[in-house]
Amino acid sequence: MLLKTVLLLTLVAQVLVLENGLLRTPPMGWLAWERFRCNTNCKVDPKNCISERLFMEMADRMAQDGWRDAGYTYVNIDDCWIGGRDDKGHLVPDPERFPRGIAFLADYVHSLGLKLGIYEDMGNFTCMGYPGTTLDKVVQDAQTFAEWKVDMLKLDGCFSTPEERAEGYPKMSAALNATGRPIAFSCSWPAYEGGLPPRVNYSLLANICNLWRNYDDIQDSWRSVLSILDWYVAHQDILQEVAGPGHWNDPDMLLIGNFGLNHEQSQAQMALWTVLAAPLFMSTDLRTISAQNVDILQNPLMIKIHQDPLGIQGRRILKERSRIEVYLRPLSSKASAIVFFSRRIDMPYRYHTSLARLNFSGSTTYEAQNVFSGDVISGLQNDTNFTVTINPSGVVMWYLYPIKNLHMSQQ
Ligand code: GLA
Repeated sequence: MLLKTVLLLTLVAQVLVLENGLLRTPPMGWLAWERFRCNTNCKVDPKNCISERLFMEMADRMAQDGWRDAGYTYVNIDDCWIGGRDDKGHLVPDPERFPRGIAFLADYVHSLGLKLGIYEDMGNFTCMGYPGTTLDKVVQDAQTFAEWKVDMLKLDGCFSTPEERAEGYPKMSAALNATGRPIAFSCSWPAYEGGLPPRVNYSLLANICNLWRNYDDIQDSWRSVLSILDWYVAHQDILQEVAGPGHWNDPDMLLIGNFGLNHEQSQAQMALWTVLAAPLFMSTDLRTISAQNVDILQNPLMIKIHQDPLGIQGRRILKERSRIEVYLRPLSSKASAIVFFSRRIDMPYRYHTSLARLNFSGSTTYEAQNVFSGDVISGLQNDTNFTVTINPSGVVMWYLYPIKNLHMSQQ
């Protein structure tokens, strides 16, 4: 009986604590899926098919074009890399598309100061039908990823039962920990259970996963961005508090640089994802991305806000009848990020408000820096009326911070 209890407690301890110390701030990087999908036709489309070439070329761009230095460090493989299993059951990549293997790719990416992420599925098959990780393969696959020196695992949830997922995700978390290699763990589990309690146990998730998808896949359209945002806002009371250093909600990839969003919408997705403390995984062709989109994605103040050490997920604080919405993320040093978002479809809207209307109180004087234009508005007090002009489906984003009383601090 005692032995059983000890065993059980050890198991619980192993399962409940994801003490990998990773992702104290939300991850940033690049993930293949949204832009490159399951294009395996390297004969016809060698530049864009899922192959070592694609990941090496993206890694090159990330190291050379300022991405890595801005904080985008993960280069992540998604579905369609698997060739099968060898006679000992080890996963092997597709030999034609990844002829030098995943360990080679990891070394290459590491040599550039980047990290490599990989994808598998807790179930019989990946969502595109490649061999999955069944319960009996969890430990072996975790060891394989660690041997390859992989730095992040996205574990999808297609082709499994709820019971298999309930057993498999905690098991994989423990197996990754047991390898001794720090491997960030991205779980798609909640997305397969409707994303909400009671079917989803977010305190358990926060203990076993570093990030998790809660909702539908993003597609290359503004409508898709809005549907994800709407779901996050509808459930923000549940979702906001489960995010924090080491464990993040993941509303899916950034579309910036692709085909579905205009300039305003690209800025809006960037601003909203930043305020939601969401992982920033680009999924675009970094070989051809425009300077304008680079500016959105590499905006230093945006990234500083995104990486704020408090790691608090923001929320919508106001929804006006004018179809203007205001989002706020509390930041360290008494600062805040504020996003004024327009759902209008007519013309730029002059939104009149004050900090008091945004629930600020007290006598602090603030300064606001416009995150996209760099303009600074000084001397903002609670009752100061101000106007922001927000374009249709666009945002105005502020970094708001108390003005230090120079006189006081010199004393
Ligand atoms: C699911 C996931 C996507 C992607 C595909 C790959 O749909 O949610 O993010 O990984 O599978 O097949």
